[in-house]
Amino acid sequence: MAHVAIVGPGAIGCVLAAWLAETGRHRVKLCARTPFEGELRVETPARMLVSSPRVITERAHAERADWILVATKASDSAAAAEWFAPLGAAAPIAIVQNGVEHVERFLPFAPRERLVPVMVHVPAERVAPNRVRQRGPARLVAAENDDGRAFAALFAGTEVRVELTRDLTTVLWRKLCLNVAGALPALVLEPAGVLRDEALGEAARALVRECIAVGRAEGAVLDDEFAESVLAELRALPTDNVNSLHADRLAGRPMELDARNGAVVRLGRKHGLATPCNQMVVALLERLGRQRR
Ligand SMILES: NC(=O)c1ccc[n+]([C@@H]2O[C@H](COP(=O)([O-])OP(=O)(O)OC[C@H]3O[C@@H](n4cnc5c(N)ncnc54)[C@H](OP(=O)(O)O)[C@@H]3O)[C@@H](O)[C@H]2O)c1
Repeated sequence: MAHVAIVGPGAIGCVLAAWLAETGRHRVKLCARTPFEGELRVETPARMLVSSPRVITERAHAERADWILVATKASDSAAAAEWFAPLGAAAPIAIVQNGVEHVERFLPFAPRERLVPVMVHVPAERVAPNRVRQRGPARLVAAENDDGRAFAALFAGTEVRVELTRDLTTVLWRKLCLNVAGALPALVLEPAGVLRDEALGEAARALVRECIAVGRAEGAVLDDEFAESVLAELRALPTDNVNSLHADRLAGRPMELDARNGAVVRLGRKHGLATPCNQMVVALLERLGRQRR
């Protein structure tokens, strides 16, 4: 029985915890910032998963883990890493977050060989501290290597599909292209349907084109037409879909901006590529976020 510690039991952490508990093969522990009690109830598209993982908020109560899964927002990574030492110095650490800098983000806190970057595509929201709604299929992507295979094996037999790829860089940048355009609904505080507007659609294309250029410089394989398919995918979302940047801004929580549009700006600068659209979005959302708080 593997002991799996999930640091950051929010929407994604709880979905993964529920599916891991469902296998009956793992002892799942939730390392939380805010305590919560009661059964964990995750409503998946097919059925309700009910489990009772132990929730701890004190690092002194942590025990050695065989796997650590980090599912905090990227902006909480440094605090999340404070759990690593109490959970043991050997366990692989799966970084289940958005962005493209999974490894770089955690290198100050753990050696490279323990870090397992994972692309996460799981539409989910936390509706109460112990209750999460998983709105669609759960898809994770890890690198095709021993760590990736071991990570995938954790979810064997569940409805979480873990794919392995030889080119995780491209997979992460493709996801980032979607996320950078998602900043526009957060900016105008209107759900995804707003991207069907022609002018906002054109603004989304501009954000994604910058992301494509920087992604290519970082080694991702992305063609120019990808901007159009990203926009088509966003326009196909339910018009009332609220992305997490938008939800965080509405709730007055810090937004995961630095790992998304901020990464395009930062990495663009590294390659001498101008990213004025993403730069403007970051400046505006940071300002608006501060005003709200
Ligand atoms: N939700 C989605 O649909 C979705 C889809 C794809 C990708 N993602 C990505 O997945 C990652 C997680 O997103 P999410 O939506 O699950 O976020 P979330 O619902 O905000 O959950 C994050 C959780 O981390 C906890 N946390 C923060 N700092 C912590 C610490 N030091 N120790 C322990 N727990 C800590 C938070 O605690 P509090 O309860 O105190 O806030 C919260 O429960 C993000 O990178 C996001 O972009 C999310």
